Amino acid sequence: MKLTQEQIDQFHTEGWLLLPELFTAEEVDLLRREATTIYEQNRPEVWREKDGKPRTAFAAHKYNEAFRLLGAHPRMIGPVEQVFGERVYMHQYKINAKSTFTGAVWQWHQDYGTWKRDDGMPEPRAMNISIFLDEVMPINGPLMLVPRSHLAGDLKASHDLETTSYPLWTLDEETVTRLVNDGGIVAPTGKPGSMLMFHGNLVHGSAGNITPYPRKIVYLTLNAVSNYIRKPTRPEFIAHQDFAPIETVDDDALVRLAREQKRAA
Ligand code: SIN
Ligand code: MN
Repeated sequence: MKLTQEQIDQFHTEGWLLLPELFTAEEVDLLRREATTIYEQNRPEVWREKDGKPRTAFAAHKYNEAFRLLGAHPRMIGPVEQVFGERVYMHQYKINAKSTFTGAVWQWHQDYGTWKRDDGMPEPRAMNISIFLDEVMPINGPLMLVPRSHLAGDLKASHDLETTSYPLWTLDEETVTRLVNDGGIVAPTGKPGSMLMFHGNLVHGSAGNITPYPRKIVYLTLNAVSNYIRKPTRPEFIAHQDFAPIETVDDDALVRLAREQKRAA
């Protein structure tokens, strides 16, 4: 799959791009079922909110077949390699739950801030991809983006170890206010299967989810192979150290797995 020049221009100017319903209902139903099974498992890769509900599951492409296929899917890898002009490997893979009623905030941050400080990533040449597993609505804690904030470069940040169960390099209120005065805030919403791409330096965060509507999103970070991390400090399941370029699977790989599972049921 290839992006149009207009889509590439929007990504470079605004720092983000939404591709609505890139994956079909059949493909997303499979992924949603598998995510629920993963969250029930008691394993180090599954992190929980302070109340015990799932917050995120790391590295699912290493222990779940459906998420392995998603992580090597040509509809996702194609556009990213097109933007970077280079092959990519998987730097990080997480399925964020934003659970009903208690899904907690993600403070304002830039992802490259963490990749640089904690992983020794040389440049912001890693792409964030979000794939919506549930419908993302204005009310269930959508990801909020500050358009054009990626042009501000790598900003001063402090390490927040308190607010949530997940340590994050977060931005201060003054910096966020200044950037929002320029770019505003957008919260891309859409049906399950939609895919959002955003720049590693784009300022983003999300509010809590107090609704009965879950908001599961898969976040994949695809790093240009030449930009591999130099000083990892986090566990391998959070910041991967297999720098081999991803070999894509067939475009219908997820559909075939969904049908196999149905036949076996
Ligand atoms: C993130 O910024 O990595 C996750 C934000 C979210 O899931 O809302
Ligand atoms: Mn982030």
